[in-house]
Amino acid sequence: MAYRDLREFIRALEEKGELKRIAVEVDPILEITEFADRAVKQGGPALLFEKPKGYGIPVLINAFASMRKMEIALQVASVEDVAARIVEFLEMRVPEGLLGKLKMLPKVAEMGAFFPRVVSSGPCQEVVRSERFSLFDYPILQCWPEDGGRFITLPLVFSKNPDTGKRNCGMYRMQVYDERTTGMHWQTHKQGAEHYRRTGHHGRPRMDVAVAIGADPATVYAAILPLPPDLDEMMISGFLRGSPVEMVKCQTCDLEVPAQAEIVLEGYVELGELRTEGPFGDHTGFYSLADEYPVFHVTCITQRKDPIYAATIVGAPPMEDFYMGKAIERIFLPLMRLQLPEVRDISMPAEGIFHNLILVAIRKSYPGHARKVMSAIWGLGQAMFSKCIVVVDEDVNVQDVREVTWKALNNIDPERDIQFTMGPIDSLDHSSRLPNYGSKMGVDATRKWPEEGFTRPWPGVIRMSEEVKRRVDDLWRRAGL
Ligand SMILES: Cc1cc2nc3c(=O)[nH]c(=O)nc-3n(C[C@H](O)[C@H](O)[C@H](O)COP(=O)(O)O)c2cc1C
Repeated sequence: MAYRDLREFIRALEEKGELKRIAVEVDPILEITEFADRAVKQGGPALLFEKPKGYGIPVLINAFASMRKMEIALQVASVEDVAARIVEFLEMRVPEGLLGKLKMLPKVAEMGAFFPRVVSSGPCQEVVRSERFSLFDYPILQCWPEDGGRFITLPLVFSKNPDTGKRNCGMYRMQVYDERTTGMHWQTHKQGAEHYRRTGHHGRPRMDVAVAIGADPATVYAAILPLPPDLDEMMISGFLRGSPVEMVKCQTCDLEVPAQAEIVLEGYVELGELRTEGPFGDHTGFYSLADEYPVFHVTCITQRKDPIYAATIVGAPPMEDFYMGKAIERIFLPLMRLQLPEVRDISMPAEGIFHNLILVAIRKSYPGHARKVMSAIWGLGQAMFSKCIVVVDEDVNVQDVREVTWKALNNIDPERDIQFTMGPIDSLDHSSRLPNYGSKMGVDATRKWPEEGFTRPWPGVIRMSEEVKRRVDDLWRRAGL
């Protein structure tokens, strides 16, 4: 059974020994960060702070902060199981004969669960606060010492494409400016920013935005997935949960939010109104610099009677977001392979913070193949941000960074094998010559072929013969080792 809400997920984490309740008073200003940082680095449990200093609302953090917790969140034995389910759907064919059609029925029924269902009421509206409310009523964290203020760090930001009416849900952090306004840190390449631009093209002065905080884990997770525009994250959550997401209409704006959410901020963003956002201790492990972003005006807060505030912190890797990203890497591989079947595996090591480094193993079939794969990845959704792509042959295990380092560095003639290109850069990159625009590097670390102009012999990797190994197994024992 799919988790109905955040509470059922918390219960599951607790039952599996993956959650620790913290009964002592801990300050949401910096102290919760220090707890969360230490816990994730030690491979520790999710933390539920029952008494955040100054607040009666508990704070949940690190709920996704290991592969085990990701499995509990997605209710699978391994995140690879999600990838296998995607492959099953991708391989679905038109059924032949009655038997084929009958066999297909369970799959069709499963697909019915994907679509979100609008319901007339939900726990997220048990309390409607349209008059006297303040964001400071909630235990919103200040994460790091030099942060510009308090930030909502795990928000599900809902908006609608004004051209198609399609919904988007993205996770974009929100800096609290005062009781009723926040920053809206959708980076320029993200769908929220695109909706905002399109609203401007329509000459409308405002765009409705609603923000859900705390929901069932698949729904929270769906917000960060790098999906194509106009593909509804709530549908993908339905796929992940195996059960439809219940959505309820907002009280004061024309949007729907997950009915089972803990807290919902309803409001709008005014076109052209920008305000300084940041600095913020970011997932690069550095502070991202202050910049101008739209302002979100909260017109109403709806919530459960006894809400739980869900948060995360980012910082020097690995943090909670690394595990969320690692699961994306596994789940999206089959989708990447639709376009690029030559890709055998990919890996984004923690220190590469997703966009700085992607290791790719390919089955090389023609001259220049590695460069074709690099170009394709630079053209593939949010993979466009990949600052450094290292392409190796399929016999290299890209999950083993040491093996990649050893083989790739042996295989390259840097001047020949490194390719630079210009293009869009992740907004968080502090080194690019301009914000959002700069260079990327591809490293062709595959074996070079005569057809690529390499006519010297290419040596093999050193390996002992099996026969000698067997002999030494015996000698080893006899030698008393
Ligand atoms: C914890 C966390 C915080 C994030 N914060 C931001 C953010 O502040 N701004 C942003 O543009 N993307 C942020 N992201 C990444 C986006 O959520 C991600 O790129 C997502 O796919 C965007 O959705 P969209 O394609 O619907 O815009 C964050 C991701 C995580 C896991």
